Amino acid sequence: MTATTPTSTIPATASLRRYGALLGRYLAPQAGAAAVLAVLLLVGIGLQLLVPQVLRRFIDTATGVAAGTLAEGAGAALVGLAGVFLAVALGTQLLGGAATVLGAAVGWTATNLLRRDLLEHCLALDMTFHSARTSGEMIERIDGDVTALSDFFAQFAVRVIGGLLLLAGILVVLWLENAWIGLALTVFTLLEVAVMVALREVAVPATTREREAAAQVFGFVEERLTGIQDVRANGGGAHALHRFIHAMRTFFHDVRRAWMARSVVWLSSYGLFVLGMLVTIGSSIQLVMAGAITLGTAYMVFQYLIMLQSPIEQITQQMQLLQRAGASVGRVDELLRERSRLTVVDGEHARRLPDGPLDVRFEGVTFRYHDAEPDADPNLQGIDLVVPAGHHLGLLGRTGSGKTTLTRLLFRFYDPLEGSVRLGGVDAREVPLPELRRRVGLVTQEVQLFQASVRDNLSFFDDTVPDERLIGALHEVGLGAWFDGLPQGLDTPVRAGGASLSAGEAQLLALARVFLADPGLVVLDEPSSRLDPVTEQRLERALERLLRGRTAVIIAHRLETVERVDAVAIMSDARLIEHGPRAVLAADPHSRYARLRRVALGLADGDEELLEELA
Ligand SMILES: Nc1ncnc2c1ncn2[C@@H]1O[C@H](COP(=O)(O)OP(=O)(O)OP(=O)(O)O)[C@@H](O)[C@H]1O
Ligand SMILES: [Mg+2]
Repeated sequence: MTATTPTSTIPATASLRRYGALLGRYLAPQAGAAAVLAVLLLVGIGLQLLVPQVLRRFIDTATGVAAGTLAEGAGAALVGLAGVFLAVALGTQLLGGAATVLGAAVGWTATNLLRRDLLEHCLALDMTFHSARTSGEMIERIDGDVTALSDFFAQFAVRVIGGLLLLAGILVVLWLENAWIGLALTVFTLLEVAVMVALREVAVPATTREREAAAQVFGFVEERLTGIQDVRANGGGAHALHRFIHAMRTFFHDVRRAWMARSVVWLSSYGLFVLGMLVTIGSSIQLVMAGAITLGTAYMVFQYLIMLQSPIEQITQQMQLLQRAGASVGRVDELLRERSRLTVVDGEHARRLPDGPLDVRFEGVTFRYHDAEPDADPNLQGIDLVVPAGHHLGLLGRTGSGKTTLTRLLFRFYDPLEGSVRLGGVDAREVPLPELRRRVGLVTQEVQLFQASVRDNLSFFDDTVPDERLIGALHEVGLGAWFDGLPQGLDTPVRAGGASLSAGEAQLLALARVFLADPGLVVLDEPSSRLDPVTEQRLERALERLLRGRTAVIIAHRLETVERVDAVAIMSDARLIEHGPRAVLAADPHSRYARLRRVALGLADGDEELLEELA
């Protein structure tokens, strides 16, 4: 399953539905804050609706004073109205500010929750999912898409719902005031929305071309600058200039065309608006002259008309954003729907692994990485292998024979296609993944250190592990002296990738980590790159201590590594071709192991084919 969502073809209604579902899920924990936000929004809208009413009262009172029809206390009333106007204006601003702050907080909390869930979800997916994707793609999905959503998450509901409420409020007030005025402005609103929707896409192609032209100009400049020596040396200056002028001319034409297309959109909507104003003013004059409405009312209607524009613009703009965010919503949603291929046992059927060293049993195991392609060659075929508890098995075989693959099944990075893998008598599929991965330790050639303190690198960010245990583990692997030299002890930062540690120290630190987990089975994928002899000895001593009293599967690239194991298994082409106690195989002159050993230890003449088996 690849991640090719047909991004641009998601219809707005579908993304609206998905957006609604995501919004509901992630806003639910913040229901309180969301409720406060809604109240702020509603009160703010109420106040906004109040402003023209106050103005009308003011104008009517003032015109009354001017006409001399109102005398007693009119001055005081005007001052009072001015005060109310000021208070309402200030209140609207304050509420708006509070709503913005709260909206951003709610939006960010929600998107951070979403990020966390996505990361957790991806970490739980099996390796089939991860090997199909690059880390760049995953970063883009977990962070990029969610960031694209976050503004939108914070504002969409506020803007659209707020805009709709304001719009409805204005129209209701107008209908209550005068049915004719209400009808006229409702028609105007519908017309304006229709025009905005119709013209929405007009400027898009021209704008796209404008961006392409800009990219071309900059690309051209960059290319000529990087190649400046060649251009000069070959006397290409005049030619380059000519090409540049040509590119600039195209750029200019495209910019002008895009600007004009955008102006058409803007002018149409604004022209319609001006038309609305003209009609309103004209009919107001008629109504005032006829004595049907007061001057204050006429002004109030005009004011409401002006107020109509911003919610209409906001709603159409947000719907446009929704279309763009639709792609992100779709991808996030798809990622969350991605299911691991591993069946996960629930608590009821979960089985625990026994304490102490675990015995390992592969029973008729066949496995293929691409299980969607049934005709592909299996990467493991008919593997039957037993490692008794506490025994150490050395796994040999030429590169690509399936050694690493075999051990991956022990961690359930993948499940076998046929057969089963049993640990301590329990089918690995019946053990909860966290338990399984706690009891099986892995030491690979690639040491993964984090940009964090020594403590966090050892405990995998588990604060509950006592310092004594951490320090004990460091001593255990022979890093005692190294640790004593650290300036800030366990809090000393380790740079990502282990840049501040030598390769050997990084390896030993990784070993200490495995020690801490106290696994019953250790898988060791031997480093093929050689360390210096002193470090190697330290590593070997630490390994000896780590493996004591535990079952171990040791993938060896050099025969010295398996000199002390209990049993040896040799793989070739996805199959097990030899398996037995090391001493027995070593004593049998015809065994592959004995022949390999003779060649590798220089006891016999080089045998090309055999040596290759150790490559
Ligand atoms: N993640 C993967 N996806 C698909 N195929 C894989 C994957 N990992 C390994 N393979 C293939 O499976 C086969 C066995 O690989 P594996 O890594 O188990 O070999 P190996 O014996 O560990 O080799 P080496 O000695 O080089 O480490 C190889 O053909 C390899 O190309
Ligand atoms: Mg390998």
